[in-house]
Amino acid sequence: MRRTWLGILSKPVPGELETPSGIAAFEAAQVCPDVRFALREDWGESYSLEKTGDAYAVTGGTTGVLYGAYALIRAIAAGEPLPEGRQTPYYPLRMLDCWDNMDGTIERGYSGRSLWFEDDEFSYDPERIRQLGRMLASVGINVLCINNVNVHQPAQHLTDSLLPEVKKLAAILRPFGVRLMLSIDFSQPMQNGLDTSDPLDPRVEEWWTEHAEKVWQEIPDLAGFLVKADSEHRPGPSVYGRTHAQGANMLARAVAPFGGKIVWRAFVYNCLQDWRDTTTDRPCAAYDLYHPQDGSFDNNVILQIKYGPYDFQVREPLSPLFLGMPRTSIAMEMQLAQEYTGHQIDVYAMAPMWRELLDQAGKEKLSALVAVGNLGRDDNWTGHPFAAVNLFCFGLFAWDPDCDPETAIRLWERLTYNLPADQEETFVSMLMNSRHVYEQYTAPLGLCWMVRPDIHYGPSPYGYEFQLWGTYNRADRDAVGIDRTKKGTGFTEQYPKELAQLYADPEKCPDELLLFFHRLPYDWKMRDGRTLIQRIYDDHFDGCAAAEKMYAELKTLSIPEPDRTEALQRMERQVRNAREWRDVTNTFFHRFSGAPDAHGRRIYA
Ligand code: GCU
Repeated sequence: MRRTWLGILSKPVPGELETPSGIAAFEAAQVCPDVRFALREDWGESYSLEKTGDAYAVTGGTTGVLYGAYALIRAIAAGEPLPEGRQTPYYPLRMLDCWDNMDGTIERGYSGRSLWFEDDEFSYDPERIRQLGRMLASVGINVLCINNVNVHQPAQHLTDSLLPEVKKLAAILRPFGVRLMLSIDFSQPMQNGLDTSDPLDPRVEEWWTEHAEKVWQEIPDLAGFLVKADSEHRPGPSVYGRTHAQGANMLARAVAPFGGKIVWRAFVYNCLQDWRDTTTDRPCAAYDLYHPQDGSFDNNVILQIKYGPYDFQVREPLSPLFLGMPRTSIAMEMQLAQEYTGHQIDVYAMAPMWRELLDQAGKEKLSALVAVGNLGRDDNWTGHPFAAVNLFCFGLFAWDPDCDPETAIRLWERLTYNLPADQEETFVSMLMNSRHVYEQYTAPLGLCWMVRPDIHYGPSPYGYEFQLWGTYNRADRDAVGIDRTKKGTGFTEQYPKELAQLYADPEKCPDELLLFFHRLPYDWKMRDGRTLIQRIYDDHFDGCAAAEKMYAELKTLSIPEPDRTEALQRMERQVRNAREWRDVTNTFFHRFSGAPDAHGRRIYA
């Protein structure tokens, strides 16, 4: 099995260990001979660590002892002080959503095939699943949603005839404190004998109630159901003229007796927009729909909101929903799978971006942190060996949303590669900078969607311009962007007053979001004195040069094999990709604007 941040543990967890405390003792003993454990069942997921002489003491709840053991191992291996006092995860729900299909493919997966599905059946190596449980537990991830939010057949049977298989998988992960969640299809009752899935029809509610009973009987600790409804052609309550609260609450009542949750995704917009229609603005959609329903969701419903109002773009403002749903439990959804951020070919460490987003949202407004997974059957789990940093950091952020990105990235590096100090500096700053670099050569100033349609890798500045997805930049010979102020689509008005004013004023709006909120002429003077077009050119030249520098730096690092060769091969592709982005994007804007580059660099006019 390949190197992960758990490489410091040489032995796999023996199959006969079936409790978190048993696993905790085994794992800790691999790193330190003298560790005592005290189980305090009422502590749940909490733990505390102490050192006396050379001996350590871990006190913790049922899963807390395991988290404590991993925290101890991390601290010893990285040469860091033990955390002081009782440690409790900030969010009780720390979930990884896997977009695995039962045919073995993974939607937007870049690390090989599914770890648990193949040929419409469960198919896995139990040892690998135990190793997965161990990885997740070691960073505190406690819920795994195993199937794609787009529930294709036969995944509906996961809550039905396939339950015995789900039960087996749940049993493997349970000792690691990892519970399962299942994505369901809102129209399931109709596919099972009823003539409707109307959430207000008593037969439908009864169907779900009976269904939930059956499911929780088999898997009593199932965390709940994840629902993508009325989104990108998935069925939902709007078909029956019902609200999302009515739909979600009906399901919530069915699962409440078992302590289950309904995680309801807020990724809802018109995906059949006519590009000629300039009044509909996709970023407005979710707020328009959900804000009026604030306060009407049941207690066990969590509204899962993607971090930005579009769709996991490199740079988006925080979704205004995070600031507009004070009476609803909400979760922020990140995406570890690098759909728009380089397909795990380009290096893109996400922690700095999460820091910005969580600071803007305010950690206390959220009740869970969720991420679309980046795992697959590839030997190294995440395709690019460095993409594991995102899984690792996500766990740390979900446990402690005040997490410092650089500390987390450095910790991952120490546990995974433990490079000499000067190399560590180079590598950590490479990762810290990687998002900025990617942003510079791909997405100018908050303009989104300049990617190849469908695959979402590589440049295509007009690729989405005439599509149905509500994803336009409206570049012409004079200007680029969409006016989203009150005079335009009104999107800025969805933010609280102060932010609305900031974003609505192009003189004050942060540079990196300028073209998200505004339509501006190419000769617009930026605050630093450059014109808008010059800034677009400069960013693309700078970003590409930075990617070339990263590649040169990577060659100097003694990353152990096979990771080094793999990372170099991928980064060579990244550099090629960055050049393509640079030249295509600059040429595109040059052809429209006719503006020469102030530095006379080559643009393919
Ligand atoms: C994106 C992605 C889809 C996915 C969807 C979602 O649009 O491209 O593959 O299904 O997000 O989050 O539901």
